Amino acid sequence: MSLRLRLLSIIIGVAAGISLLFTLLMIDDLAITWLDGSSELARSAAQQAKASLLARLGGKNAETMADTEQLWVKLAEQDAVLPELLEKEMARSQTIIEISIADAAGRVLSSSDPMRKQRALNSKPSLEALRQANAFARLTALLTGSSDFEVRLPIGVPQLQRPVFVIQVLVSPALLRDLLVPRIRSIALISCAILGVAILLSIWLSNIMLRNITRLGEEIDRIASGDAPPPRTDVPSREFALVQSKLNILGQQFRGFQSVLEKLEDAVLIFDASRRLVLCGNPAKRLLGAVETGRKLEELSFGAALAEVFQRKTAVQNMPLQNLLADVEFFPGGTIVRVRDPEGRKQLESELDLSNRLAAVQRLTGGVAHEIKNPLNSITLLLEVLKMKTPETVEELDVISEEVRRLDRVVRTFLEFSRPVELNRQPLDAFELLRDILKFLQPDAERRKIQVSLTGEAAMISADKDLLRQALLNIVMNAMEAMPGGGELRVSAAREGNDCVLRIQDSGTGIPPEKLGKIFQLYYTTKEHGSGIGLAQTFRAVQLHGGKIQVDSKKDLGTVFTIHIPILESVA
Ligand SMILES: Nc1ncnc2c1ncn2[C@@H]1O[C@H](COP(=O)(O)OP(=O)(O)O)[C@@H](O)[C@H]1O
Ligand SMILES: [Mg+2]
Repeated sequence: MSLRLRLLSIIIGVAAGISLLFTLLMIDDLAITWLDGSSELARSAAQQAKASLLARLGGKNAETMADTEQLWVKLAEQDAVLPELLEKEMARSQTIIEISIADAAGRVLSSSDPMRKQRALNSKPSLEALRQANAFARLTALLTGSSDFEVRLPIGVPQLQRPVFVIQVLVSPALLRDLLVPRIRSIALISCAILGVAILLSIWLSNIMLRNITRLGEEIDRIASGDAPPPRTDVPSREFALVQSKLNILGQQFRGFQSVLEKLEDAVLIFDASRRLVLCGNPAKRLLGAVETGRKLEELSFGAALAEVFQRKTAVQNMPLQNLLADVEFFPGGTIVRVRDPEGRKQLESELDLSNRLAAVQRLTGGVAHEIKNPLNSITLLLEVLKMKTPETVEELDVISEEVRRLDRVVRTFLEFSRPVELNRQPLDAFELLRDILKFLQPDAERRKIQVSLTGEAAMISADKDLLRQALLNIVMNAMEAMPGGGELRVSAAREGNDCVLRIQDSGTGIPPEKLGKIFQLYYTTKEHGSGIGLAQTFRAVQLHGGKIQVDSKKDLGTVFTIHIPILESVA
């Protein structure tokens, strides 16, 4: 049932209950007034009947009390005027339907109704008891009962313990009903009017309340999606403004929290108590594919695998999920699922390891290179001296000189590599940089019959332009060199999560798997005039930018180099 319907039915129910109660109270009040009036009338009718009876018997006594009683009973029974008096008395009231006089044994001696004579006095519920009963019993007896009610007046003499006569006045509630019906009708009319007003009021109220709730819902959706608040056209109420400002604070915290989630390597998903996904970062999308906040667990691709854990509500760790590992933890009001890629982590660890080792090696070898360079300088000088002293060995000495010069070149590039580099970072559009490089190499590509394409979008990074340019140039040149008979060179730049991803793909010779591990080594080359410096330089530049580089290659089909560099966070 919708909230509005529930609200309406509650308000209408309460209003209907109140008006029903109100109606019953009014009717009961009416009934009491009528009862009081009727018993007053009945009692006075009984008194009147008693007065008439005594007047008829006045002064007629026998010897003994028993004889007197017998005489009185006979007189009362035979009196022809008494029934007339009783009937007259009865006719004076609308509610009294019968007045009878009975003897001590309950036999009717005289009655307003001639048919009653000689019969036993009918015992009826007492009008007085009805007046004392609770409202519910009183109303059901009066409104639905068919029985009449009586008022009794016993008449006795001081010499006797028991009464000699009993006067019974019967009252019918039928007249009360006739009296009540129009009143009930008008009260019901008033109740209906109250009910109508209550319904209108509740529709109006629920509209106001639901409007605010809808607005708060929109506010929460906006926070979840991270949009800016829309311009306000109306002035919100004080309470609403208060809730809204609290929501805004919550929103800021939420966004802060979400950006933390984005930076995590693992995917963190938070579900609420009804198993609805309320929070997940980009890593979740990267690892698990299509996940969307607002979806139920059952609607997610991996939902079925987790359903049982959610059912049991016991925390699990390292649970296999697709080809990933998941930890599930429960907290009051929700569940946290943490998903990680064991493969990805291994790769990351090995990359970290490599760059650490590289730095350590550089620290060690820096000194060694210097130690080699100095003796090399001395050897060169001494060779020149030797050449002058022994001209007959000049040829051999020239060969040695050439070898020493080669050694010197190697040591120099090595020193170049070991030198700590200070990055001159600046905001840079990686797409623009690629376009620049391709333009520079265009003539070369045309000469080699290579078809070049560049796709993608602007992606801002913070980088040392010269260093990165050289790094990318090395890869593109390698790619072109790998396609001696022409081919296709595809270059792209794209944003993926928090990374700028650059891809350089050729359709060249490819790299055999056993050589893939070596290509980043300094001086490793398979080319006749290659230096083996290019990729080592590229690797170092990417590392210095906090990025990573991957290579994928298939023999005779080509090679793809993929470089990830963190996106420059916009300072908005
Ligand atoms: N796109 C590519 N296709 C095939 N082999 C490649 C590619 N890029 C690099 N290589 C291999 O990696 C080696 C190292 O490259 P690099 O460090 O640039 O040195 P160099 O280009 O001087 O040989 C190359 O000699 C080549 O064997
Ligand atoms: Mg090269």
